[in-house]
Amino acid sequence: MMKRRNKRVLITGSGSGMGRATALLLAEKGYDVIAATRTPEALYDLHPNIVPVAMDLRDRASVEAAVKEAGQVDILINNAGYGFVSSVEEAKEAEMVAQFDINLMGLLRVTAAVIPAMRRAGGGVIVNISSFLGKIGLPMLTFYNASKYAVEGVTDSLRYELRPFGIRVHSVMPGFFDTCFARKNLRINERSFAPDSPYRCFSENLAPRIVDEINHGNDPKEVARIIAKIIDDPDAPARVAAGEKARKFIPMRRELSDEDFERRVREYYNLG
Ligand SMILES: NC(=O)c1ccc[n+]([C@@H]2O[C@H](COP(=O)([O-])OP(=O)(O)OC[C@H]3O[C@@H](n4cnc5c(N)ncnc54)[C@H](OP(=O)(O)O)[C@@H]3O)[C@@H](O)[C@H]2O)c1
Repeated sequence: MMKRRNKRVLITGSGSGMGRATALLLAEKGYDVIAATRTPEALYDLHPNIVPVAMDLRDRASVEAAVKEAGQVDILINNAGYGFVSSVEEAKEAEMVAQFDINLMGLLRVTAAVIPAMRRAGGGVIVNISSFLGKIGLPMLTFYNASKYAVEGVTDSLRYELRPFGIRVHSVMPGFFDTCFARKNLRINERSFAPDSPYRCFSENLAPRIVDEINHGNDPKEVARIIAKIIDDPDAPARVAAGEKARKFIPMRRELSDEDFERRVREYYNLG
């Protein structure tokens, strides 16, 4: 009898945090994990079922080469992303563009490269890691928010577009999780954090509070477990809130008017 091959999953941003936790959990469950990262050498000995591949999300040719190297991908986890912290008026052109180039365009480049093989195979699963900040705006996080709102839009549209081919698309909206995100992957605009910035009240009060909430956030293994459940369940919901903050704010967003919700967020974060 012919041995059935293991399901193959491609995960972006596998070097740390949720990506790494998901790579490990799925490898332990017997999936073949292709761990896309900027630093494959750091993942060489992680688990026998994990194969690291180098991928530069900003470069279509690099993405296509990595996807080709990955072979037949059954499941794609679009996880890579970082946060840009700046007021709108102080942000530099390159900073604004870079936020979308990674969080949105990078996700779309990988997705576009993976779809043809899933379509030919007659099915697949795509899980986009957005954020509860893909449904909730905050000052100084406009670009990050907009990139994650866009990821939510991508999920909505692709669910229709790929349904005829048996490809499921889902989004996971994490609250705050204790990963490398605040320590390594928050980039700040220096002008917004200068003593004479008109937005000093936010950079002085809100930004450190959010960093603290991330560093004391939930365990990224929770996101990994949610992703594993979505992969296993053909009837999994379109989007799942993960962690304490998302479970608090996402239902509130659905239930309250925009104005009442805004009032609650202003009170919660002392936004005046
Ligand atoms: N932590 C939170 O509180 C939180 C909350 C909501 C949503 N999220 C989202 O969850 C996802 C995973 O983040 P995490 O919390 O696990 O943080 P993390 O530990 O910082 O991991 C993020 C990964 O994204 C990749 N990445 C970051 N900047 C990149 C860049 N400029 N170019 C290419 N890849 C880049 C990196 O992958 P490599 O180093 O392997 O290349 C990095 O390992 C992100 O999309 C983030 O926006 C996080």
